[in-house]
Amino acid sequence: MVQTHEKTATSPVNIAVIKYWGKRDTDLILPTNSSISVTLSKEHLQSKTTIRASPLFEKTRLWLNGIEEINLINNKRIQNCLRETKLLRKDYEEKLGKEIGMDNVLSLSTYNLHICSENNFPTAAGLASSASGFACLVYTLSQLYELPVSATELSKIARQGSGSACRSLFGGFVSWQMGSKRDGSDSQALQIASSDHWPELEALICVISDAKKGTSSTEGMQSTVKTSTLLQHRIDNVVPERMKLMTDSILRKDFSKFAELTMKDSNQFHACCLDTFPPIFYLNDTSRAIISVITEYNDKSGECKAAYTFDAGPNAVIYALKQNIPEIINLIFKFFPPSRENLTFFSDPFKLFSDRKIGNLPLPANFNENIIPIFPNDSVKQIIHTCVGNGPRVKNDESLLNSDGFPK
Ligand code: DP6
Repeated sequence: MVQTHEKTATSPVNIAVIKYWGKRDTDLILPTNSSISVTLSKEHLQSKTTIRASPLFEKTRLWLNGIEEINLINNKRIQNCLRETKLLRKDYEEKLGKEIGMDNVLSLSTYNLHICSENNFPTAAGLASSASGFACLVYTLSQLYELPVSATELSKIARQGSGSACRSLFGGFVSWQMGSKRDGSDSQALQIASSDHWPELEALICVISDAKKGTSSTEGMQSTVKTSTLLQHRIDNVVPERMKLMTDSILRKDFSKFAELTMKDSNQFHACCLDTFPPIFYLNDTSRAIISVITEYNDKSGECKAAYTFDAGPNAVIYALKQNIPEIINLIFKFFPPSRENLTFFSDPFKLFSDRKIGNLPLPANFNENIIPIFPNDSVKQIIHTCVGNGPRVKNDESLLNSDGFPK
């Protein structure tokens, strides 16, 4: 009888507030600056991965969202994560072998794997899934192999899958310390504060486009490294101080400062994209209109009540405190209305609008309605309301594989 060795785990998405953009080593994925992110709740956005190891499997295979990825399994980044976790398992087996006798130790490190992974958010939403996906791959492997290593150690492996993935090994507020060593042994994620540190902080993801982005972040950032002089200024003179200020604003729960830094850093990242030659454009008219609405909202509120940030695509993420979320959803709804057919525009997971109609709240006092025109229906396709969440977790009763080791 062959025993089954299998683990299932989930991992979260993270959205940076100090952006990672640029590598000093493209193989080891070492960044040109440190970064900070907020981990979002797995309730609304997560990757789930089941990995089974068996001496009966003829080869290692990978399924993503139900489809076998025959070429992707040989991808260098996936192979890096498999190699590094297998090496740790091998060390562990040798160590254990010395303690309890070689015959009693399972050589899981030599077995082939069946890896099945899926996201609970539509990949079509154009949201970054590489961070949660690679974090989930590495975390699930670490659980399968029973590796006695910390989340920070694992972050160094996930980093070699996709840079931003290293931050998804933790919940709450996370920094990725760029490190200075050539072998990358000090380029790792650390938790600044856990997910329950600032429960009032929430996020709205405005899905603007589900089209595949033009320039991938991997290509885009290297083009910026090669051609942008603004990036060097950012690396040398801006990010080091911002890392300190952002950490401090998080620890003090100072939303106003957090928001100002988040928006400035998103702006500078996109300025570096524009300073790349040829330039890279990730924001579109709808993204820029959202910036105008949030700016007017903050201006007329007399304080920063919302912070926008954009990654390598047009979708906006808005961070705000719980009490201001209905007002902000109302604003987005007014300027970017959904069509009648759009039934997935806003699912209201926190039941904010159960006794009132979305879009019926008055605009904030003195809000200039002419700041932007009302956009065509479905310019914003969906608003995902979520909060700060935990890091990866084991979910053994939620296997994605059948007893035969193939996807359900
Ligand atoms: C704009 O982590 O996707 O989202 O390391 O090449 O896989 P690779 O890039 P990736 O880049 C993310 C860039 C960003 C900013 C951020 O998340 O910090």
